[in-house]
Amino acid sequence: MKQSEWEIKWNDSLSVGVVEIDEEHQKFVGRVNDLNQAIVECRDKAEVERLLDLMLMEATHHFWHEQQLLVKWKYPHRAAHAAKHAQLTAQFDRVMKEFERADVSFTWALKGLHIKQLLVDHLLHEDMKYRDFLRKQEHSSPVSGKQSARKRVQASVRCVRGDERSNNKHT
Ligand SMILES: [Fe+2]
Ligand SMILES: [Fe+2]
Repeated sequence: MKQSEWEIKWNDSLSVGVVEIDEEHQKFVGRVNDLNQAIVECRDKAEVERLLDLMLMEATHHFWHEQQLLVKWKYPHRAAHAAKHAQLTAQFDRVMKEFERADVSFTWALKGLHIKQLLVDHLLHEDMKYRDFLRKQEHSSPVSGKQSARKRVQASVRCVRGDERSNNKHT
């Protein structure tokens, strides 16, 4: 299979420094590449729709997860970030309706690419803002004998996982 020249390659500049979120973002980049590939190969509308649905379903879950962590980290712009997620979700609904109505392949391919670009732009611009916040926290916290912000973040992620495990045990 010929590799698409639109393929996004994951690299460290895309990392927000939190393993759990990086894993979800990496998965998203994989979905974007699958979608690009399907459009480049002119696969049928049903297949492109399937890939879009999958990407949007995972994005919705990811937004929720990210918002939980932004609250936990006391990110000062968490409300604005959540509002951007809500705005994106509303845009997806609108563009998906246009996608469903589009009957010319060129039109629905453009709709698919539009949704994908909205998500990529969010990752590159909005998510990077909280990455910068976490980095600043790390650099401003005293080093001697205290946990760095990064370690606290990782510890809080482990806490969330631990909570999930103990919840599961009790259910
Ligand atoms: Fe994100
Ligand atoms: Fe986000």
